[in-house]
Amino acid sequence: MQDTLSLKPLGPHIGAEVAGLDLSRPLDDTTIDWIARSLATHAVLVLRDQKLDAAQLGAFGRRFGVPKPHLLEGYQHADFPEVSMVTNVARDGTIDPFGVKRATTWHSDETYKQTIPRLAMLHGLEVPADGGGTLFADMRAAFDALPEGTRTRLRAMTGLHKFTSGPADARRVYASQMTPEKLAALKDWEHPAVVRHPGNGREILFVNPSHTHGFVNLGRDEGTALIEELAEHSTQPDFVYQHNWRVGDLVIWDEVSTMHKGAGDSPPDQRRMLMRTIVHPATPYWRAAEHGAQATT
Ligand SMILES: [Fe+2]
Repeated sequence: MQDTLSLKPLGPHIGAEVAGLDLSRPLDDTTIDWIARSLATHAVLVLRDQKLDAAQLGAFGRRFGVPKPHLLEGYQHADFPEVSMVTNVARDGTIDPFGVKRATTWHSDETYKQTIPRLAMLHGLEVPADGGGTLFADMRAAFDALPEGTRTRLRAMTGLHKFTSGPADARRVYASQMTPEKLAALKDWEHPAVVRHPGNGREILFVNPSHTHGFVNLGRDEGTALIEELAEHSTQPDFVYQHNWRVGDLVIWDEVSTMHKGAGDSPPDQRRMLMRTIVHPATPYWRAAEHGAQATT
């Protein structure tokens, strides 16, 4: 294990900065286990002054499970498809209008799939001088703070998840990046509204306003209102850590315990280039059931 590893909390609930770790050096299993346990506790880990290429980021991700290519193929790394770019810079160097707008609504990654990721990582390659941060919300603390009656009700509920189908207004932005065939092929998955963290057993509110569009046995309007109410509750400043990027930062977040979004407040002509990988658990946490299209109200 690398010596003198330490953690400094970055807020009352979520986020901790890790010191004493150089990810470009070989990491033994004890160190990887320490990172995994720290992530389960703090939900977001920040490492400064790292320098990884796409191969190294993918290899680091593989220590925690199976990095998988993201749905939006246009942003995948040419040689390492499990690594993609989150950027406002197009491949020809011009401003990418979708890249400016993407991921600026609260979400957890890939809840529109049957199996969900374990964690994700972003590595800062180029960062804007103004704004451009990433915000993370603690869905464990958010659940704990709900009234007891709401918690009891939610434990019995099942959310409906489909790619950018939720009330956060992202549908048209994302639809523009996909062919009609791909859009038509998207499925509707049922995930529990409350889950337990596989690492520490804490209860987590597993509803996000980008991909959750309703609940089983609840009308659409009532479902939309509940999703919006829960999103507002969960993103109160007390539950949120905002990461303001420096070149070399590497941020790891627990996908089950958190929602995140880009602040979306940097000028489009200031280059922002983050390298990302999304890692699925080697064994799925659970497998969602596919929702029958005719049952959606
Ligand atoms: Fe995301």
